[in-house]
Amino acid sequence: MQVQAASSQHGSTQNGKVPVHVAIIMDGNGRWAQKRGLPRLEGHRVGVDCIQKVVETLSDKGVKYITLYAFSTENWSRPQEEVTGILEIFLQALRVQTRAFHDNNVRIVHIGKVDRLGLELQEELAYAQRLTRDNTGITLNVAFDYGGRDEILEAVRKIIHDRVPEEDVSEKLFRRYLFTSDSPDPDLIIRTGGELRISNFLLWQSAYSEYYHTPTFWPDLDSEELERILETFSNRQRRFGRVNPED
Ligand code: IPE
Ligand code: IPE
Ligand code: MG
Repeated sequence: MQVQAASSQHGSTQNGKVPVHVAIIMDGNGRWAQKRGLPRLEGHRVGVDCIQKVVETLSDKGVKYITLYAFSTENWSRPQEEVTGILEIFLQALRVQTRAFHDNNVRIVHIGKVDRLGLELQEELAYAQRLTRDNTGITLNVAFDYGGRDEILEAVRKIIHDRVPEEDVSEKLFRRYLFTSDSPDPDLIIRTGGELRISNFLLWQSAYSEYYHTPTFWPDLDSEELERILETFSNRQRRFGRVNPED
């Protein structure tokens, strides 16, 4: 199932009307908390608790790959207290949720930099990936310390390191050097929290993704709204530069 989906990349992943790959910029945790007079970290805490439900809903709808943007390469510039808090919350969530994901046949893949994360988090991510590696259900890419520019530079470095001949550097080869090499490009990118920007997310892979943004803060995104978003996607006409998508 994964092989089939992964081979239908380069923008032709529309599987009937259900997106094969949904990527989400989970934004708005801080404002969700502030609106309630709570510390921003409380928003992050509630935010990670929402992940399981969203994965379940998308999986039930037939989505095969989910990528969640949890922490960007730029998020290190936040106040020390918030960064430390997010790292701790993420570590605890991973400890609690990995087993449940495994029981549901979910394959967990970390995308992003590893070396700047604490040892415990590095180990937990490695464990989650090892444990779920052979699962055949949905693939969950967790973007943590992820940046699209960093990913592209890292790919270039690896290509140079491998001494790939200039004439072999194609789009097909390049995508194999990205963190997302075993997922097709996202069909749909959802941003919660109301901002209209990409914030360094999946810069290469989003070339022909459909965008959807909602003012709803991430902790408030429920199954009904998600289903409406999928419905909207099913009515989009994707042309990939052509006049008629059927050509
Ligand atoms: C998204 O929520 C989570 C991270 C970036 C870690 P924010 O923390 O950005 O929430 P807002 O945008 O400030 O409300
Ligand atoms: C994007 O949200 C990153 C994540 C959701 C992890 P940000 O809150 O960091 O984005 P900006 O700063 O508003 O662009
Ligand atoms: Mg934000």
